Amino acid sequence: MENFIAFNPTSLHFGKGVLNQLGITINKYGKKVLLVYGKSSVKSNGLYEVIKQQIESVGAEVFEYSGIQSNPLVQDVDSAAALGREKAIDVILAVGGGSVIDSAKIISIAIPVDAPAWGFFERRIMPRSAVPLIAVLTLAATGTEMNQFAVLSNHEAEIKSGYGNPLLYPRHSFLDPQLTTTVPSNYTAYGIADLVAHCLEAYFGKGEEATLSDRFVFSMIKEAMEYGPALLNDLSSYKLRAKIMYAATMALNGLTMYGRTAGEWGVHSIGHILSLLYDVPHGASLTIVYPAWLRLQKENLAHRIKFLGLNLFGTEDVEETTDRIEAFFRELGCPVRLNEIVSEKINPDDIFRVMVHNRAATYVHKLTQDDYKKIIELMV
Ligand code: NZQ
Ligand code: ZN
Repeated sequence: MENFIAFNPTSLHFGKGVLNQLGITINKYGKKVLLVYGKSSVKSNGLYEVIKQQIESVGAEVFEYSGIQSNPLVQDVDSAAALGREKAIDVILAVGGGSVIDSAKIISIAIPVDAPAWGFFERRIMPRSAVPLIAVLTLAATGTEMNQFAVLSNHEAEIKSGYGNPLLYPRHSFLDPQLTTTVPSNYTAYGIADLVAHCLEAYFGKGEEATLSDRFVFSMIKEAMEYGPALLNDLSSYKLRAKIMYAATMALNGLTMYGRTAGEWGVHSIGHILSLLYDVPHGASLTIVYPAWLRLQKENLAHRIKFLGLNLFGTEDVEETTDRIEAFFRELGCPVRLNEIVSEKINPDDIFRVMVHNRAATYVHKLTQDDYKKIIELMV
């Protein structure tokens, strides 16, 4: 097993009614709050009023930045950071899914440096400090609520990429599964697929002797496979929402990585290109890329795919394991080919060019440009 450091400073408040503690938690960090949220869900489901009431209950002043879009943009982060700087805010409150929380994470480190946020992604600037961040998660998927990563798109640079720094852990994250009951079935399914993909990225990373972490991976995927389809038949079930929300957080908070030195992340990097070019939702991009990637790796990684198949499905057949993972994504109602979700004309040359530009899947199991061509054929 590889050496590892376990570190996770986020306080997770999980369960029914946890937002009752939001006001007093904000109050520990100051009286000027930058509230960051997305386009419309926070207002249409009544959460906005609850949040405002919590902020007002401790006499704090609130400044708002709304309209963060899915597959969030660096431009919004720069605008929100400018507002935060101008108002000298004490604490950021992010209310939403991964896109909102990721944006808020970068806002939190951009405010103190007073420079365009893309500089962090280009490694031109280093964060010095972070404005304290509190998150209220409304969509179970990314795990951002308890990790140190954020993903942004920059269409001018034609890059969607992740950034990681220990300063990005939220101080507190509030997870009330009731808040996710309004997530529509497509995004619910994409979230389930995302948590499975995070488990697989860990499993196919560096460090194959981490048997306990492998078992965490199998358990989380089994939760998703057992309760995910059930949830899609009963979207308002608290019990099922809670199971998926807990699994999604654990799938990318470090737990599956202990004893490994790196996650694979190749599938994510290719998925980001589909999101960049065709605005494919994140989870859907992964259900398209994962089966294709497993087929491409069926010889290189046969031993790992066999072990996965044995533990998930009781088979050591590499192709059957891939087919069954793909069938699970289909059962969730997710696309497994790009043309199932993109209505415009798909240009494989464009995908290839942007894969080269983003140096996709060149981390652990490196893909060559020949591999790019093969995987594109398997995806479109
Ligand atoms: O904008 P609003 O109106 O709020 O609508 C959102 C959005 O349209 C809606 N939604 C959220 N909560 C809802 C709700 N609708 C009804 N009821 C609710 N309670 O859902 C839509 C999708 O939201 P978004 O935040 O984009 O989804 P998700 O949580 O899947 O986040 C995706 C982003 O996270 C990144 C992805 O790349 C993508 O940019 N990721 C971040 C990671 C991390 N920081 O660790 C890891 C992941 O692998 C991922 O890359
Ligand atoms: Zn993901």
